[in-house]
Amino acid sequence: MINQKNINRIFFIFVVVGFLNVLPVFSQTGGELFMENRCSRCHTIGRGRFVGPDLYDISKKYNKEQVNAWILNPETVYSQTNKKPYNPGYPPMPQLGISEHNAELITNFLFNNDIKRQKEDDGVIEGVLINESSGVGAEGNDIYLKSFIGDRLTDEKLQITDASGKFTFKGLSWVNSYSIKIKHKGLEYETAKMVFPPDKGSIDLKLPLFETTDNDSEIFLNLNHEILSVEEKTVSIAEIYDFENRGNKIYVGKQGDNNLRRTLKFYIPSNAVNLRFEEGLDNENIKRERNIVYDSSGFPPGRKRVVLTYDVPLEFGKNLIEKEIMSDVSTLLLLVDDEKGAVEVSSLNELEPVTIENKNYQRWSGNNLKSGYSYTIIITSRSLSLKYLDLFPIIIFAALFLSVFIIGLITRTENKKKDNTDELLLKRDKLLKSIIELDEEYNKNSISESVYKTKRLNLKNYIVEIDQKISSIKDHQNDTL
Ligand code: HEC
Repeated sequence: MINQKNINRIFFIFVVVGFLNVLPVFSQTGGELFMENRCSRCHTIGRGRFVGPDLYDISKKYNKEQVNAWILNPETVYSQTNKKPYNPGYPPMPQLGISEHNAELITNFLFNNDIKRQKEDDGVIEGVLINESSGVGAEGNDIYLKSFIGDRLTDEKLQITDASGKFTFKGLSWVNSYSIKIKHKGLEYETAKMVFPPDKGSIDLKLPLFETTDNDSEIFLNLNHEILSVEEKTVSIAEIYDFENRGNKIYVGKQGDNNLRRTLKFYIPSNAVNLRFEEGLDNENIKRERNIVYDSSGFPPGRKRVVLTYDVPLEFGKNLIEKEIMSDVSTLLLLVDDEKGAVEVSSLNELEPVTIENKNYQRWSGNNLKSGYSYTIIITSRSLSLKYLDLFPIIIFAALFLSVFIIGLITRTENKKKDNTDELLLKRDKLLKSIIELDEEYNKNSISESVYKTKRLNLKNYIVEIDQKISSIKDHQNDTL
């Protein structure tokens, strides 16, 4: 579940999301901040090690100032201790871009909580389903609890709400994340994924039972941020969306060809790889059709922040990344982390660069853009792409061949008078050529392995034979000298 690649990706997302202070902050207490800033995605308090160490006894290990330093910028800990990572067996902790005020609240929470050590699987999710129109509990409604490890669905349990609309799921592990799926009039919609808070083994829910609509007139995109990180051979792109359903019904979208409903949609360059939704949507509800990615889950009233990431491989020279706006958007902001100034953007306004966390970002923006508006990101890459590296073995082969050939030539001039040796060397060259051709054929899969091996062995034996003949001629020459 937690491999190095995931960790790198998680780190990238934290860096990206960390400085989006423009987005609304919903929570204030240290405990909530611990969740909001996703400390809980890497740390437990009293539930054992995770991506990072268990923070249960942290007040015995550090003073407040030291914990604050970890939260604000782990690099200061690393440079002071000259150890990175500090705790053996863990990856380094990324800098999260947390304000000093929030860091203090989190530190106080870590020092003042009365969290009990908790067992792994005694979590409880309970709740009540309320009929929005009548305001009373919805009796006899199907409620599904979906359990996930990472993105993978590991379990789905069904319950039917009781006379007052209540439901209870017990014996749940904090390691998993959970969502509740509600079936209503043949349509389903789902809550966002939830995890157990660090200081509680239960989650209480009050779920509204919404009417559904396939009309998108109440769906708005308040803001869209894109962050590009240009590396040698790829550009990593993170997109952050702030959607809002301003109506009072759940938006379920129109039915697509394959029976799937289509709700939110996103434009993705066709050569994008490693596409992943990090927040807001579940990767298993996503369908990709060439340039467009559709979500098929319902969108209840309220706001929804969606974060998605992908990589685009770069080729040597100019790379054009075409983008198209899918929903009217009031603010589009593009931030580019690029040292070499190799990026240009057409059809958006260039702004002054900004410095965030000691890094320079170029900026482009657009206001009140309509769906269908397109712009192009142009990235000039000066490093050779993989395509050229693939040719490397062939180049080495050619060089080897050439040197053998040159040695052959030298030997040949030495033995000018010996036509015999000349002829042998020519034959030898031809045989070497045949070996190269044979290797190429085999690489292209045009001959089987057994044919290849026998042919190659025969050619090699023949060369050895010729080599022996050549050296016997030389010996003979030496003898006669
Ligand atoms: C992406 C994963 C990740 C996130 C998010 C994260 N941490 Fe960490 N944290 C780590 C790792 C890994 C270590 C161990 C690093 C090391 O030893 O160098 C660590 C170490 C620490 C330590 C020192 C622990 C010790 O025993 O020495 C503290 C304190 C800490 N983190 C607090 C926090 C808080 C508070 C948050 C949220 C604001 C947070 N971390 C978010 C991964 C993370």
